[in-house]
Amino acid sequence: MNIINRPRRLRKNEIIRNLIKETRLCIEDFVYPIFVREGINIKEEIASMEGIYRYSIDKVLKEVEEIEKLGIKAILLFGIPDRKDELGTEGYAENGIVQRTIREIKKVFPEMYVITDICMCEYTSHGHCGILLENGYVDNDKTLEYLGKIALSHAKAGADMVAPSDMMDGRVRYIRNFLDDNGFETVPIMAYSAKYASSFYGPFRDAADSAPTFGDRKSYQMDPANADEAMREIKLDIMEGADIVMVKPALSYLDIIRKAKDNFNIPLAAYNVSGEYSMLKMAIKEGILSETVVLESLLSIKRAGADIIISYFAKDVAEILNS
Ligand code: PBG
Repeated sequence: MNIINRPRRLRKNEIIRNLIKETRLCIEDFVYPIFVREGINIKEEIASMEGIYRYSIDKVLKEVEEIEKLGIKAILLFGIPDRKDELGTEGYAENGIVQRTIREIKKVFPEMYVITDICMCEYTSHGHCGILLENGYVDNDKTLEYLGKIALSHAKAGADMVAPSDMMDGRVRYIRNFLDDNGFETVPIMAYSAKYASSFYGPFRDAADSAPTFGDRKSYQMDPANADEAMREIKLDIMEGADIVMVKPALSYLDIIRKAKDNFNIPLAAYNVSGEYSMLKMAIKEGILSETVVLESLLSIKRAGADIIISYFAKDVAEILNS
């Protein structure tokens, strides 16, 4: 046999495989999402997300202690209020669930990097991501004022970064200006720029009790069929002042992540969403897939071009990498 090129030479043992490894996951790549709710002494597992819980503030502190020990440096907070109304009032209340959680976490764990999701769907009685017009359409420009108020209230409470996930037009510029006018020019914005109207958010809506009571999110979230449009969305967010842009979901949108990485020189985040998490968790639980699929799938997100990975698997990753 006259085979000159034998790629298997570089796969012979683990040492050489590691020497030529192109992509490595490390725990510093990860952001861990956390759900907080009202009440005390509550740690309830989310039915559709094995291993992920809703915490009351007292219990969230224990969780943050644990994840800090694991080496996770950044969290993304989602709030579940007791009271919802048409205007999502609890979303920007000084003593809302997220605002109090930030203050408590920062008191005890000042080093933990706290990012907050800026959206209205967890706080509105109708479950849409903004203020509704009478015909049920989300009023873009009116919603901006509320998003600004939510972002400012989080910054005031001590959030290190805000992450608008509502998909309204112009929200990055509006929030940037509003934060700057109020003295929070050092708080960065991570924009959910290419956020698709995805069925992979199902378990999250269960977790956050945020499913729309009528209709869907297709008039603001993106059509999964579109890639060029994602580039336009990202470009607009960069022009509006986003510090980090995001593609969401991740696993069915690896092409979008790669395209974004090739087109823009700005830090890129990818959100490995709830449905992606639950699918693998269940398959592992049922013995259909082995646990190694977790790192493999996360590696694919990094290889596609993500600098930051937001994932419910962050704790599993820390445990695997630390072992
Ligand atoms: C809020 C928001 C959602 C997710 C993150 N922020 C839900 C949605 O848009 O319906 C989904 C995250 C996940 O599925 O893990 N708008």
